[in-house]
Amino acid sequence: MAKYKIAWLPGDGIGNEVMEAARMVLDHLGLDAEYIHGDIGWEFWKAEGDPLPARTVEMLKTTDCALFGAITSKPKEEAAAELAPELKDKGLVYRSPIVRLRQEFNLHTNLRPCKAFEGNPLNFRDGIDLVVFRENTEGLYAGVEFHPVPDEVRATLEKNNPNMKKFAATAGEDLAISCRVFTRAGCRSIATQAFEYAAKFGYKTVTVVEKPNVIRETSGLMVRTAREVAKDYPSIELWETNIDAMCMWLIKNPQDYGVLVATNMFGDIVSDLCAQLVGGLGFACSGNIGDDYAVFEPTHGSAPKYAGQYKVNPMAMLLTSKMMLDHLGETAMADKLQSAVAAVLKEGAAKTYDMGGTAGTLDVAKAVVERI
Ligand code: NAI
Ligand code: MG
Repeated sequence: MAKYKIAWLPGDGIGNEVMEAARMVLDHLGLDAEYIHGDIGWEFWKAEGDPLPARTVEMLKTTDCALFGAITSKPKEEAAAELAPELKDKGLVYRSPIVRLRQEFNLHTNLRPCKAFEGNPLNFRDGIDLVVFRENTEGLYAGVEFHPVPDEVRATLEKNNPNMKKFAATAGEDLAISCRVFTRAGCRSIATQAFEYAAKFGYKTVTVVEKPNVIRETSGLMVRTAREVAKDYPSIELWETNIDAMCMWLIKNPQDYGVLVATNMFGDIVSDLCAQLVGGLGFACSGNIGDDYAVFEPTHGSAPKYAGQYKVNPMAMLLTSKMMLDHLGETAMADKLQSAVAAVLKEGAAKTYDMGGTAGTLDVAKAVVERI
């Protein structure tokens, strides 16, 4: 029996190509794993009315973690129009499989390392090594939203908060409210993970990215909790920066920062900014991590215009695989993979179109394999 059971979820479009590249590299590293294919993506929405069939969720439960490529998703009307004839008009609603996976497996942490590898022509600047910890299930993305706002909800808000007076004259259907829901446990968990990571990998600072001067209650809770957590890590400095200022600082002095920690929406924003500083979608790797399960995926989507052409950059997927190896405790393999990626970039050995080269997806994988 193999040491690991890994759910293999290529999904749609270029998801398949970059996963093929990942497999070449993982096989060459000799990871002792059984890879179990899972159905996910647009094809299954069209044919079955569910882009994440129940059988896939059941299969995932038998595995150690999942490696995921990318999926296609389309706006509501288009999604409905593409359903198989017998599924039309049944009230089926498309929901993002990745969001569902995060909820189903309580993948509360989104981890995004962003490193400027030497020789990458897409680096904004050399010397950038940022790691973003984003809370993945709470905050503004928790889905506690109202439009129109029910009278009962309005009445309660007006009774309990004088700031609601400003909206008293606005009709319910002209009012939309999205709640930013934080828990102390959620804040503590993401802050603790950020500090643990900083301690383990030698980062000197953790920056909490919020806006407590304005969003006093939620951002306030996050920052206060981060301060408490920081007391257990005296050798690591806690920096506190507002999200807006952080966007400026990251352009001005990105090399000054190490680990960043933020709640859901600010983490989403700041992690895209960080990804672009080190090469953009072709390099942006990520992990969705919970207490019992984890799903690793490159940040990019299915890029339909490149699907089937084996042109896109597999580096994001390879760095994602590296994160998975670290998660499994295979740190020697993870280091080997990262060193091989670094060598390919330093030598300029194989560059895809986004880096100004002509190499194909599997050429890059081959170049990495040769340097392992
Ligand atoms: P996308 O990430 O698929 O592609 C946007 C553009 O970025 C591409 O046209 C290409 O120029 C570039 N790009 C993306 N990945 C690249 C790579 N590995 N190497 C080089 N260049 C790369 O985003 P888009 O076009 O907005 O969405 C396409 C589909 O993917 C949509 O259906 C969308 O809903 C879905 N999507 C899925 C995601 C996921 O699976 N997690 C995330 C984002 C979008
Ligand atoms: Mg995002």
